Amino acid sequence: MILKPEIFIKEQVEYIKNKVGRGIAICATSGGVDSMVCAAIAHRALGRNLIALFIDDGLMRAGEAKQVTRILKKLGIRTAVVNAASDFFKALKGKTDPEDMRKAFRDTFYKTLGRAVKEFRANFLIQGTIAADIKETKGKIKSQHNVLSQIGINPEKYGLSIIEPLVKLYKPDVRKIGRALGLPESVYQRMPFPGPGLATRVVGEVTPERVKIVRKATAIVEKELKRFKPFQAFAVLLNDRATGIVKGKRAFGNIIVIRSVDSRDAITAQPSKIPFEVLMKIQKKIIRQIPQVTKVLYDLSPKPPSTIEYI
Ligand code: XMP
Repeated sequence: MILKPEIFIKEQVEYIKNKVGRGIAICATSGGVDSMVCAAIAHRALGRNLIALFIDDGLMRAGEAKQVTRILKKLGIRTAVVNAASDFFKALKGKTDPEDMRKAFRDTFYKTLGRAVKEFRANFLIQGTIAADIKETKGKIKSQHNVLSQIGINPEKYGLSIIEPLVKLYKPDVRKIGRALGLPESVYQRMPFPGPGLATRVVGEVTPERVKIVRKATAIVEKELKRFKPFQAFAVLLNDRATGIVKGKRAFGNIIVIRSVDSRDAITAQPSKIPFEVLMKIQKKIIRQIPQVTKVLYDLSPKPPSTIEYI
């Protein structure tokens, strides 16, 4: 079926209006394409009865919290910020198994959301779940943080009804809706960024120090690869270490992986063909700017058998 953005938006706005009535809805908005599009549709339907909640989980990219809240406010969307970084790091402490990490993230996310729901007396939660999230969770590939029913979370336990306007769409269509809504191109063309944030790019324990390393490396990778327009490009911190030489002395340093993939819908992906000189430039910058890192690798794996993220 061919998507007609204007009609889709009109239908969803009507649906949300009817469902929420005079109630209050919260949309957890990370700044990603899906949640921003969702918040913008819900804002059309509900005006000030929609609250975009930005949960600062300490796992965002450099400058992201400020950037996202600025855009939301500019769009006239009522925005609230919760600073919950310490709760997330506490929950992730000592966890190294990917699904344990995802569960810890998810539990903290919904606890934080539950508190906000009470505070704002909200009765509806608007989520940016898309078709790919459902497909991957159903296929037991990864338990995506937002697929509630499939991961055994009963929303009623949190006092909520869930509305998922984008659940039938894949990423390219979500971008079309974003454009039709008049969102800035920087929003609807944004690279996907997973709900659990940089935690999906830290192999092993997620600590503030380790997130700091991957955040710095991610900023370098994103900046240098932007012009190649990859589907996603980022850095990953491995759990292993490797011997290197720092200031003339032996150092047992960290390993950063550069990951860049081309894809249409995230279901399959190919490694981007990045010129070697560009990879070398990134390597140099990472090693120079992050002294804890002694090795930089480029990931050549397609999906499948690999996945895009690392946990
Ligand atoms: P994988 O790593 O499974 O990722 O190949 C496929 C796409 O989904 C994103 N991703 C997530 N998005 N919550 C999200 O909202 C999640 O828990 C999550 N895990 C992975 C990933 O960035 C890629 O675009």
